[in-house]
Amino acid sequence: MNTMHAWVARSYGAPENVLKFEELPIPVPTGQQVLVKMIASSLNPIDLRMVQGYGSRLRKLVAKQEFPFVAGRDIVGEVVGLGPNATKFKIGDIVAGINDIKEIGGHAQYSAITETGLTKAPTNIPAHEVAAIPYVAMTTWSALVGKLKFDPEAAAGKHLFVHAGSGGVGSFTIQWAKSLGMKVSTTCGPSNIDWVKELGADVVVNYRDEDYRKIVSDVDFAYDTLGGDYEKATAALVKRGGGYVSIVHQLMPYTDNHGLILGALRVIGQIMRKKIGHGLAGRKYGWSIAQPNEVGIAHVMDKVAQGKIKPVIDKSLPISDIIAGYQHLETGRAKGKIILRWDTV
Ligand SMILES: NC(=O)c1ccc[n+]([C@@H]2O[C@H](COP(=O)([O-])OP(=O)(O)OC[C@H]3O[C@@H](n4cnc5c(N)ncnc54)[C@H](OP(=O)(O)O)[C@@H]3O)[C@@H](O)[C@H]2O)c1
Repeated sequence: MNTMHAWVARSYGAPENVLKFEELPIPVPTGQQVLVKMIASSLNPIDLRMVQGYGSRLRKLVAKQEFPFVAGRDIVGEVVGLGPNATKFKIGDIVAGINDIKEIGGHAQYSAITETGLTKAPTNIPAHEVAAIPYVAMTTWSALVGKLKFDPEAAAGKHLFVHAGSGGVGSFTIQWAKSLGMKVSTTCGPSNIDWVKELGADVVVNYRDEDYRKIVSDVDFAYDTLGGDYEKATAALVKRGGGYVSIVHQLMPYTDNHGLILGALRVIGQIMRKKIGHGLAGRKYGWSIAQPNEVGIAHVMDKVAQGKIKPVIDKSLPISDIIAGYQHLETGRAKGKIILRWDTV
């Protein structure tokens, strides 16, 4: 049997306790999938949480098995095999995108990925650097374009507020919104203010010493990466006709805690109630989960190829250093993304 290496969880817990570097069978691409030999992936907060068990009920339902689990939503690699209905790429293409939640992640040497989640990787930057972008890009695309029906072609001049401009999602979003001609306001810690301004943000609020509610107002779109206590005040920044979206979605925690049916019903009930309340205040309201999107990934990678969006990389580590990468992610102080390179194996 053809086998590959992968960082595999067979139970949930801290990465240093549950992740093992194991051999697994190389997946066989089916339908519209292509087999990708990984060049690089990354670490996102979702990878850490899923290794710890977050979203396990939902993933088990979709993936039809719980273990072995391989995380890594960012995929950059070479196409080395084609499923029977795959038509978009040829063998040897270097592609970038995100996996579907049911597919093995980029912390494996190979994965069979649905081709619509991928596009050709830009060639103006090293392929492993591209791995900083797809998941945060599809997070933002799903939230703004998917939930708020934001039109990138008509965004120029509009005002976007995003929390945590120094994080993976925020640092991408600032660059993307500026490439569309938007005004961008954001928050970050004191040590990151200068480089967040260099990313293009027009207004940068130091969340430790300043109150964003007193500095930012009348935005067209509020993009909440923090949720919880931040939700009410963040939504209140939005002017009539605008929209608020949160990526702190409750579907995973609710289904984890209350079961699939009761959890999903509670989420639907809560969203409907909030949509009605915010609708009365004249704004759209939504919770969003990152999804692969064919139009979105092509749009974003085109911006990268034009040099309008640059990867923001905190650390670039060989895949063998994945545990150190997770430990850095856990500090919550990553300045951009943590890349994991497979070219070192
Ligand atoms: N729904 C989805 O599909 C989806 C997808 C992706 C991410 N998410 C969620 O979105 C959140 C952000 O993701 P990420 O990848 O950007 O995380 P990240 O890269 O780990 O973000 C870390 C950044 O958050 C900043 N931060 C921490 N507390 C803050 C506060 N009170 N105000 C402003 N900034 C603060 C820190 O800034 P300083 O270091 O400057 O203090 C740090 O740079 C996570 O909770 C993640 O789970 C959801």
